[in-house]
Parts: sequence; C-alpha cells; structure tokens
Amino acid sequence: MKVSRLGVLTSGGDAPGMNTAIRAVVRTAVAGEIEVLGVEEGFDGLIRGATRELTARDVGDILQRGGTFLQTARSPEMMTEHGRELAVRQMRKHDMDALIVIGGDGSMAGARALHDAGVRTIGIPASIDNDIGRTETSIGVDSALNTICDAVDRLRDTASSHQRVFLIETMGRNSGYLALMAGIACGAELAVIPEVDLALDEIATAVRNAYRRGKTHAFIMVAEGAKLGIGEVAAHLDASAAGFEPRITLLGHVQRGGPPSAFDRLIATRFGVAAVDAVTSGESGMMTALRSGVVELTDLADIAGDRDHLDAYELIRTLAR
Ligand code: F6P
Repeated sequence: MKVSRLGVLTSGGDAPGMNTAIRAVVRTAVAGEIEVLGVEEGFDGLIRGATRELTARDVGDILQRGGTFLQTARSPEMMTEHGRELAVRQMRKHDMDALIVIGGDGSMAGARALHDAGVRTIGIPASIDNDIGRTETSIGVDSALNTICDAVDRLRDTASSHQRVFLIETMGRNSGYLALMAGIACGAELAVIPEVDLALDEIATAVRNAYRRGKTHAFIMVAEGAKLGIGEVAAHLDASAAGFEPRITLLGHVQRGGPPSAFDRLIATRFGVAAVDAVTSGESGMMTALRSGVVELTDLADIAGDRDHLDAYELIRTLAR
C-alpha cells in the first residue's frame, strides 16, 4: 500500500532529541511527497483526534530544543482495548496510512498494540532511561548523562571543600543504567542500582576506604529504583562514622531537560529517516535500533530491557582507589 499520509507522535516521558526526530520524520516524508500529521500529547491526542498538518517549515528551529513541541502524555486509556479502538478509528478518519511513535518502553508497547490491530506502525526509542532492549541507546540518554556529569562535577567541588560524601539520585525507573554510567564517567565510589544487591555496610566500607586513602570527597550514585532508599543510605553513613559527612542531592527532572547533545541529534536524525524509510518499504511492528554503530530495524515484540550495562559494574570498584 502506498503511503500518502503518516502521523507522528511523542509519548511517555520526554527526552532531549525528540524534536530532532520529529523534524527528521517530517522532512524525510515531505521529500518523499508524503503528508505528515503531527499528533498532540501522545496517544491521548490520537484518541481525541488532536492532529495538525506539519510542513517542512513547521519543524524549523526545533532540532536544538529539549522537550517535545508536539507535547507528550502517559496514556492509561491506550492500555485499554477501547482506547486502542478509538485510536485506530481516528487514524482511519484522518486518512493516516501509518504512524511513527517516538517514546520509551510503554510507548513501544502501544505502537506494537496498534500494529497488532492492523495499523502500520514504526517505533523510535526515546527515553533517558536506556531500558529498551535490542538497541544500544535511545534518544536522550547521552544528553541526560551529560547533564548528570555536569551536576556531579559541580557537586564534587563543594564536596571537596567540605570533605563530604554526596549521595546523588538519578532517574531511570527500574534501570540502573544512568547511575552506573554516570558513576563511571564521574568517578563515583559505588553505584547503588536495582539490578545489584548491596548491603548498607558495603557502602559504608567503600566510603570509609575513600576517606582512609586520603580522598577529599566521595560520592555514590543511587538509582531512583534501587532497593535501598537514598535516605536510608545517608542515615547509615551518618551512624557508621564513615569519615565524610553525607549530603543528599536528587537530580530529578533536570535530567530530562535541556538541549540534545550532538550525539542525540545525530541518532535522532538517523532514527527519524530510518523510520520513514521503513514505513515506505512496507514495514510495520518494527523499531529503529542502533547496533554496532549501524541503524537497523528490530521487532517491537522483542525489546524487553537488556542488562548489558551490568558488565561494567565492577569497573566502578576497580577505579575507586
Ligand atoms: O521514563 C523516564 C522517566 O524520567 C523515569 O526515569 C522516571 O522514573 C519517570 O520518567 C518520571 O516520570 P514523570 O515525569 O511522569 O514523573
């Protein structure tokens, strides 16, 4: 079936680079004489039929902006059969031959459900969590890591001046990817992440060792999904006189904002182009993915989160000397 008109939406938590991907989708489609409808507020907007035509000009001056100019939402309605029926009905009503969904794992599940309902759908992974399997990265991960590194570098300055240990909480939902990679990139003593069980005493020992080795500061990255809560860790460090006085910093949504890094702009652009190419070649139920530097398509049915990042876990301990 020839594609004359496609829809594009962003869904779930926003991620730097989503705008860049929308721009690439629109301009690649326009170059192939395909009309594009931008769907507002993710699947909620699709269910309501909130769409507007996007021309090449409409996506000017957005590639460098964080957030998503189409706006986004988490859509409980899309998780119901009724919601999905409404979404398909709106697509037919608006003559959309295909849909490109930019978002995280929940959004990819929504894309898969639409494919199963007979709609031509392609996913583009975008989430700072990096918890989508079969792709080495998702749009936004690199930018979030850069933001975290910038914050940790600042915290290190004040930690050194006061001889403190900072416990720094990163986002990531059930994934420890951001905490672990930021820990390696910034030189943390340890990363407390959901995938690895740690005893409170192991953390205290790591901090005490840092103090005894003559370090002027220490920091521990704590993933928001870790079993040990950050307050619990701080209280334990306080009580166990580990040398440095503890302080807590929650980075929160700061990690999701700001302009996309050059890497995210490039990957968002490549994914956007690949998604439109996939649609025009008749693909559906697939997601763009990065593997060994190459952009490929992978089945949306097969993207349960992987744990490859755990191979790097011991690096933190080895380097914290
Ligand atoms: O999935 C992205 C993410 O930022 C997670 O890391 C975090 O747990 C969640 O979204 C926060 O969601 P919200 O913005 O709805 O509070």
